[in-house]
Amino acid sequence: MTRKDFIKVVGAAGFVSSASVVQGKMRPDEQEAHDIYGRFHVDNCMGLLDSAPFLQIPAADSVGVAFAVNALASGYAEVADNPEMKGAVRYRSEGFPYSPANPRVLQVRITGLKPATRYWYRVGASAVGRPIGYWTKQSEIEWGGVHSFVTSGAAAASHFVAMTDTHGNRASMRLVLKRMRELAAPVTVWTGDVPASLIDDEETAVRLYLKPLPGDPGIAEDAPCFFLPGNHDYRGQWYQRNPYRIMMARSAEERSVRDRLLCRNFAVRQGDVAMIGLDTGEDKPDSHPAHGGNAHFEKYRTMQTAWLRDQFLRPEIASAPFVVAFCHIPLFDARPDANPGTILENWADYQKQCSDEWGPVLTENGVQLLVCGHKHKLRYDAATRGRSWAQIVGGGPELGYVGWGANKRPDPSRFPTVIEGRVESGRLVVCAHDVLHGKVAARYEFSARG
Ligand SMILES: [Fe+2]
Ligand SMILES: [Fe+2]
Repeated sequence: MTRKDFIKVVGAAGFVSSASVVQGKMRPDEQEAHDIYGRFHVDNCMGLLDSAPFLQIPAADSVGVAFAVNALASGYAEVADNPEMKGAVRYRSEGFPYSPANPRVLQVRITGLKPATRYWYRVGASAVGRPIGYWTKQSEIEWGGVHSFVTSGAAAASHFVAMTDTHGNRASMRLVLKRMRELAAPVTVWTGDVPASLIDDEETAVRLYLKPLPGDPGIAEDAPCFFLPGNHDYRGQWYQRNPYRIMMARSAEERSVRDRLLCRNFAVRQGDVAMIGLDTGEDKPDSHPAHGGNAHFEKYRTMQTAWLRDQFLRPEIASAPFVVAFCHIPLFDARPDANPGTILENWADYQKQCSDEWGPVLTENGVQLLVCGHKHKLRYDAATRGRSWAQIVGGGPELGYVGWGANKRPDPSRFPTVIEGRVESGRLVVCAHDVLHGKVAARYEFSARG
């Protein structure tokens, strides 16, 4: 059975008058419509749910969840403080005044949660049929399994993992997800470059973000994921039409009217760690012909500068013993000939505008670490006098090689990584896990902010 004939419509054949037409107070044509509606039945003939739930945009009092479906459907999530789901609160697909239906991806925003609290949840979908014109009818809700997560907050576990530059490489993704599950951190950061190159169609996006491995429960079923786009996530017709269709915009309640367009940035306490997310955008200047005159990343980065300054005025961020920032493109490169991302030639080794604008703000506030990606090779740049933050650049999808096509050659320094941060005995311990060779490639420790 194909997705097109998924919805089985039962009993809707023919416009047949009934005795109630003459008995009711409605006009005959109205009664006829009611009769048709009453007989119309939307039946789930196969599984509506087509992916594991992807928990995302975590905050102390909310979380989002997205999942794929096989037919036009409306989405639900039920959340409870117990695994038996007693007293569960039901949430609908986000939208007002209508909860939207969608044929492929549903999103639900779960709000009103308590910080640092474990919840159990399940997602559900009901197929939507339209028996007459705009009249809508739904099937019974099909529910997925029960999973759990813990909300962020100062009392949550001081533990995170970060993955980056997966680029649709399944062999690499398999190793990354295996290690992440073993580490069992309460939150994940995905610092972008999810597609191999670009995303032109929705099915590719569904596969990359929601169904990266056949038969695998996916990336964020039990621990929410902070997503930050890489330059490749911005590329292709699909993303530019639907930037928040799968990876949701953060709640508007988290930011001021001035910052209303900054839907990816986050500043959230995760135990003793304040986690700050920044979006470096594309790896070429706005004037590059590849953007066709439509790019506004330079203004976007400056908007984030004002937002970033304000985050350190929030008591929960200002008081955090450790602050770790995340973004896709590095903010520092020691090489004098490193490409700054502000010239038309090639592409960024680091993002100079972000470095110039955000770097000093991070230093003024004693941020200890920046975790990023983009370069596909594990690297550590220690803090220096005048720059408080060290920088860890995560590895990419290459499994012991570099280059592609005829230029592909062995390179043992190229391996995917999981960057893990955990506070132990008052210090932030950061391990760079080499998932190709199954070992810790590097380990760093940071003191609490003064
Ligand atoms: Fe990349
Ligand atoms: Fe990149």
